[in-house]
Amino acid sequence: MFDIENVRADFPILDREIYGRRLIYLDNAATTQKPSRVIAKIEEVYKRYNSNIHRSVSKLAAVCTDEYENARKIVCGFINAENTCEIVFTSGTTAAINLLAFAFGEKFVGEGDEIVVCESEHHSNIVPWQLLCERKNAVLKVLPFNDKGELKTELLDEILTERTRLLCVAQATNVLGTVNPLDEIVRKAHAKGVYVLVDGAQGIQHLKTDVRASDFDFYVFSGHKIYAPTGTGILYGKEHLLEQLPPWQGGGDMVNRVSFAKTTYADLPLKFEAGTSNYVGAIGLGEALSYLIYKGMDEICSYEKELTDYALEKISSIPGITIYGTSANKVGIASFLAEGIHHADMGEILDKTGVAVRTGRMCADPTVQHFGLTGLVRASWTFYNTKTEIDSLCESIEKAKKILG
Ligand code: ALA
Repeated sequence: MFDIENVRADFPILDREIYGRRLIYLDNAATTQKPSRVIAKIEEVYKRYNSNIHRSVSKLAAVCTDEYENARKIVCGFINAENTCEIVFTSGTTAAINLLAFAFGEKFVGEGDEIVVCESEHHSNIVPWQLLCERKNAVLKVLPFNDKGELKTELLDEILTERTRLLCVAQATNVLGTVNPLDEIVRKAHAKGVYVLVDGAQGIQHLKTDVRASDFDFYVFSGHKIYAPTGTGILYGKEHLLEQLPPWQGGGDMVNRVSFAKTTYADLPLKFEAGTSNYVGAIGLGEALSYLIYKGMDEICSYEKELTDYALEKISSIPGITIYGTSANKVGIASFLAEGIHHADMGEILDKTGVAVRTGRMCADPTVQHFGLTGLVRASWTFYNTKTEIDSLCESIEKAKKILG
């Protein structure tokens, strides 16, 4: 049995009030709240053994380094990677994709080569590839989505060519919430010798993820969206691919020997971890994933599925509300508009009733433009939210309609 009250008690912020009402936090696609044990872990590092990793000889440094490398092992197990050397700590999804866009681009992309992105991607899985294509005189191609928010995967047969080097796709999209059909996409890409990058920023916290079973070549995600500290993230890559890529940033920790004649680089994964990394955050990320393992991803996923079915049904039955993104397979996201009401006004009223949502273009202009809109209201929930909170959201939407309509 999934004990929701127990889960909620793990997240201290959920107890606070906003404008005299209990906070209803429905902005989880922007960032998630942190459980007490993650907060306590960060405090423990700073109070007990803070010291720079991989460098000093002190007892503190040894403990801190062990904790950091243990966090890498936890991430490795969580996504079922084969080897910890395939797990690179970054500052987030954006940094991971920019790292890859540089390093993959240097190794594999030349003039006239093609990179495919999807129309429904977040800017962070579009712009780094545009920059790469500009640098290399390569071609950026776009896989469009239909009006339900589902990728038109039947077009892949013509979009993927012998010049395509990489296909970049979200596990789940941040505006429409669509869970993309990655089995089919990976199969089609690999059949044409195309590598696949999966952006797990909106997927990993809601879907059980196995990079090996799914045969992802590269996978990225952010810590802050999976109950871990901000400024943390992961780039996973198959070892034989990461081995071939040049370093992205130069500095300490990523080198073997430095001389003016010839510098040699550290082995994976440190080759990609220049400078003092956010080791405290990384240790917090390990703690967040341990917490999820303890709670059980199967239980979390099935609770969220039930909540998502309930929420989408309830929100879409409010007269005058249109939800954008109506695929049958969605994570806990409803981006919507109320007829005749500006998204920012709706967001403001919801906030005044204690309901936190995001409004605007959601860092995904092409998605919003697809529907000819200037912005949306997005409610996004996760495993610590409840049906009662969804009911309150719906009451607040009704209230906003009365005030603004
Ligand atoms: N990428 C985050 C979002 O979609 C910030 O809101």
